[in-house]
Amino acid sequence: MRLLVTGGAGFIGANFTHSWANENPGDQITVVDSLTYAGSADTLAPLGEAVELVVGDITDAALVDELVAGADAVVHFAAETHVDNSLTGPSAFVQSNLVGTFTILEAVRRHGTRLHHISTDEVYGDLPLDAPDIRFTADTPYNPSSPYSATKAGSDMLVRAWVRSFRVAATLSNCSNNFGPYQHVEKFIPRQITNLLTGRRAKLYGAGANVRDWIHVEDHNAAVRAILAGGRIGQTYLIGADCERSNLAVLQTLLEIMGHDPDDFDHVADRAGHDLRYAIDSSALREELGWAPAHTDFPAALAATVDWYRANEAWWAPLKDAVEAGYTERGQ
Ligand SMILES: NC(=O)c1ccc[n+]([C@@H]2O[C@H](COP(=O)([O-])OP(=O)(O)OC[C@H]3O[C@@H](n4cnc5c(N)ncnc54)[C@H](O)[C@@H]3O)[C@@H](O)[C@H]2O)c1
Repeated sequence: MRLLVTGGAGFIGANFTHSWANENPGDQITVVDSLTYAGSADTLAPLGEAVELVVGDITDAALVDELVAGADAVVHFAAETHVDNSLTGPSAFVQSNLVGTFTILEAVRRHGTRLHHISTDEVYGDLPLDAPDIRFTADTPYNPSSPYSATKAGSDMLVRAWVRSFRVAATLSNCSNNFGPYQHVEKFIPRQITNLLTGRRAKLYGAGANVRDWIHVEDHNAAVRAILAGGRIGQTYLIGADCERSNLAVLQTLLEIMGHDPDDFDHVADRAGHDLRYAIDSSALREELGWAPAHTDFPAALAATVDWYRANEAWWAPLKDAVEAGYTERGQ
């Protein structure tokens, strides 16, 4: 298999590349990544020559065409991903998420290459806090709230249209919130872990009632591998691990794991337009492809993630001060 992974120097793409390289040592793996602030060559360094890293932009049509021509399948992770950044600078989101996905679609169309497009449950907007029986399914109407989710929604629509109009061999997946190794310290869980590891106080947006449906990155990537192997072309698969937790509950579990008092945190200004609740019904994926999450003990998976950040300070420490300065400027 000749595999092209876009965004493979970022959080989920790098975890995917590590697992794929370990499980399929004979495969040719190429990562294309523009190494924005969110990507790092260091993340792929442990893989040595098992992976070729091409530093380039997915909006570069000539480069993408050349890379897709040499691949049997493309797994498309590359995107601008941080909601807060999309509120202050949406332009990069339109470029990478919409124009970038369009560029990949045109290349896979020309070369007849299999594509799996990675997306988020945030395309569905949010759910009320007081209706626990309602969860997102593949039939839930799109209703994105932020420039991030709007551009991801648009990229999903492009993929669907390219399947229908040009018979591109693509599948899609929309996953809930991931956690695990190599996640940028700007994101909620690694931010709190590294705050505590650097002697700062943990921070909580608003009252912390907002609910996210957490999944370990390895479970997300196992689902992606299952979809690549057996997914139906044109199908959208929702990936989730039935792990709804309020931000307050996540933070208090983390404080407990790290030996702090459960009230040892600061409330900070809430995010503008903050989605209330995400929840995924992943039964279609489980029934059709036999996938199930393995990391179902959330406190244990969170404790393992804390251990990873503790052991890999050299990976995240250079990023930490600048990220916190940005949050402080926004009162968060
Ligand atoms: N993190 C989550 O909880 C989550 C949940 C569901 C879906 N997703 C989706 O998974 C994918 C990966 O998310 P992540 O959390 O790993 O993101 P990330 O921000 O950690 O990594 C994104 C990577 O894409 C690269 N990139 C960005 N723009 C690029 C461009 N124009 N050309 C080439 N490379 C570019 C960055 O350098 C970075 O390495 C995204 O498509 C995201 O929407 C993320």
